[in-house]
Amino acid sequence: MPTILSDKHLQGFIRDNEYKGIENQVKAAHQALHTKKGLGQEFTGWLTLPYDYDKDEFARIKTAAKKIQQNCDIFVVIGIGGSYLGARAAIEFLKSPNYNALCKDTPQIYYTGNSISSNALAELLEICEGKEISVNMISKSGTTTEPAIAFRVFRELLEKKYGKEGMKDHIFCTTDKAKGTLKSLADREGYETFVVPDDIGGRYSVLTAVGLLPIAVAGADIDALMRGAKEAADKFNNDDLYTNDCYKYAAIRNLLYRKGKSTEILVSYEPAFTLMNEWFKQLYGESEGKDNKGIFPASVIFSTDLHSMGQFIQDGSRNLFETVVLFDQCQREIIIGNDPENLDKLNFLEGKTMAYINRKACEGTILAHNDGGVPNIVLNVAKMDEFELGYLIYFFEKACAISGYLLGVNPFDQPGVESYKKNMFALLGKEGFEDRKAELEARLK
Ligand code: PA5
Repeated sequence: MPTILSDKHLQGFIRDNEYKGIENQVKAAHQALHTKKGLGQEFTGWLTLPYDYDKDEFARIKTAAKKIQQNCDIFVVIGIGGSYLGARAAIEFLKSPNYNALCKDTPQIYYTGNSISSNALAELLEICEGKEISVNMISKSGTTTEPAIAFRVFRELLEKKYGKEGMKDHIFCTTDKAKGTLKSLADREGYETFVVPDDIGGRYSVLTAVGLLPIAVAGADIDALMRGAKEAADKFNNDDLYTNDCYKYAAIRNLLYRKGKSTEILVSYEPAFTLMNEWFKQLYGESEGKDNKGIFPASVIFSTDLHSMGQFIQDGSRNLFETVVLFDQCQREIIIGNDPENLDKLNFLEGKTMAYINRKACEGTILAHNDGGVPNIVLNVAKMDEFELGYLIYFFEKACAISGYLLGVNPFDQPGVESYKKNMFALLGKEGFEDRKAELEARLK
């Protein structure tokens, strides 16, 4: 059984009758989502994606991935937010945060266009020197400034390297099926394109070509990923809070929020989960944080961060709850050996696996944090493979949608993201922003 929610460590924080109180709201949220009558319903294509994804495009993704694996040393993924985080999170989770040092038959993968740092981009250009390169430019809107700048720089590099005709074999664009600057550019220049479906927003798009192409290039099994998502879609398809762990997670989050627990910390004991934490933060932050409402999504990797954030979580402001993602099996085991002299005083651990020690660290931490007034939700996942990842992704996506509806917000828009863009364009002197420019410059003086 893939993901199972445990509410054992919520005792004293949520009473049984509180579930009763929220039961009908969960049913209403399910109804709104599945009948496409809820807020933002035009962006709920991810709901049925594990069943109705485009099989022809899926085959094309696999073919392109093989071609990329064969013709380059470095694969550059250009994108930001939902057009970048899911792919990177999945690759680091499935392969390793050290993927680039360990990969043998697949290209190294670098990410750019996720900031406007010239240091970062210049460094990547240096890494690419003398190497065979392919690029995947990902942007649903096709107009996002950060990736657009990086793509312009890489097109210039690829043109110098392969010529205008040759570079076509090295550029893959993932964008809207028909409209937008990137789509027009790709069609005009003859680059292969993949589609971000109209009804799927960036942060829900990891199981579309947005995530699937880079994930396949890294050599991961994207069939198993989709099978895992389908298993979750089958399983979390009923409106019963008591048997649907996905809805129970959404309900618990909402009940805790009502009690002033306004920060959720996603916790993992696996460093390879670090980028999944980032993916989760975008999914929940952008979906719920609006109308002056929302749970602030934070994250930690333990035991690493027990030595930095542990004090605060144990003892600081009491507005926190934790959601711990635990993996039952580990892929590579290390057993603690014997030191006859026991100089490091660690012989009490002799013969124990590191996974066992990690589990005890987790159990001890959950109990300590509970004692400190921090409710803990635990999600048990069997192992770190493609199937379980697909399952977990769908679990979090659906729980996020239900959470948004319980909160009374549209979980599929992100109007707040526009404010900084308008200011940046105005300050950069983009046409149409003249009035705002004068006002902002006066405020900056
Ligand atoms: O979730 C979202 O919609 C955003 O994070 C977008 O993915 C991000 O802003 C990038 O947008 P685009 O894919 O249009 O370049």
